[in-house]
Amino acid sequence: MSVIEIKELTKHFSAKSFSKEKIKALEKVSFTTDTSEIFGLLGPNGAGKTTLVKILLGITFSTSGDAKIFGRPVSDVNTKKKIGYLPENHRFPQYLTGEQVINYFGKLSGVNSKVLKTRTVEYLGMVGMEKWKNTKIKKYSKGMMQRLGLAQSMINNPDLIFLDEPTDGVDPIGRKEIRDILIHLKSKGKTIFLNSHLLSEIELICDRVAILNKGILIKEGSVEDITTKANTYKFNTNELNDKIMNLLLNQHKAVLNGRNEFLCNVKDVEEYSRKRIHWKVCLLT
Ligand SMILES: Nc1ncnc2c1ncn2[C@@H]1O[C@H](COP(=O)(O)OP(=O)(O)OP(=O)(O)O)[C@@H](O)[C@H]1O
Ligand SMILES: [Mg+2]
Repeated sequence: MSVIEIKELTKHFSAKSFSKEKIKALEKVSFTTDTSEIFGLLGPNGAGKTTLVKILLGITFSTSGDAKIFGRPVSDVNTKKKIGYLPENHRFPQYLTGEQVINYFGKLSGVNSKVLKTRTVEYLGMVGMEKWKNTKIKKYSKGMMQRLGLAQSMINNPDLIFLDEPTDGVDPIGRKEIRDILIHLKSKGKTIFLNSHLLSEIELICDRVAILNKGILIKEGSVEDITTKANTYKFNTNELNDKIMNLLLNQHKAVLNGRNEFLCNVKDVEEYSRKRIHWKVCLLT
């Protein structure tokens, strides 16, 4: 069963009060995520990443389309018990210590006091914040706040964790530490949904990625699929037999450019050489 399943999810905001003008934050977005994977939602500022997560969490409602988590509608209360969330730009009360923040969110999530005590120690240790637990968070750096936020998102021992820009504003060493924590969580069977506007963050740890731009899903697949540069090749039709022409047209969606040339993306030209098919290949990019 898929962990998250969304179909044609659409969200339009009103641009101004009493105006018919719409901001199209999401436009018919569909994809699924699987168990125990780190799924990255990548896109520039304003792409619709946070909006999508907020719909999945029931914080905002979709205009149309369908979204399910663990096979249940996103409004299902029991499903929410299995979810953790680190919002972007989160703000905790400044007068609390790190330990008090974790306690506060643990109690809000209904974790019983005894379990909460053990988990607080365990999770603060996991994110490397044990020794800062009695320090007021107003003294924390951005990296420390993000690590505390991660511990907060795990306090109800969720199966699925949404992290909205967890490395935002964190220095390279802090980012590496956060990535290591996420890999550790995945090894414990957690599914992680990670929003980021940085490909460099996503490609290092995600199993699969969806790319959003202006609310539209432009690509989805494994990190390898997304990052492999497809090469565009040019083939002269006079040098191709019918068999190869059909292969290029049907399998590689080749396009005839009007000068007796086919243009198409072929990932592995070697494959054709091995089949003893000879042609003149010209790399365009
Ligand atoms: N409550 C709202 N009212 C009106 N427009 C909104 C609202 N929330 C988001 N938007 C608009 O929806 C679009 C998507 O915003 P969203 O915050 O989802 O993008 P994002 O990909 O998370 O961006 P960022 O990387 O900056 O966090 C933007 O144009 C934004 O201005
Ligand atoms: Mg956002």
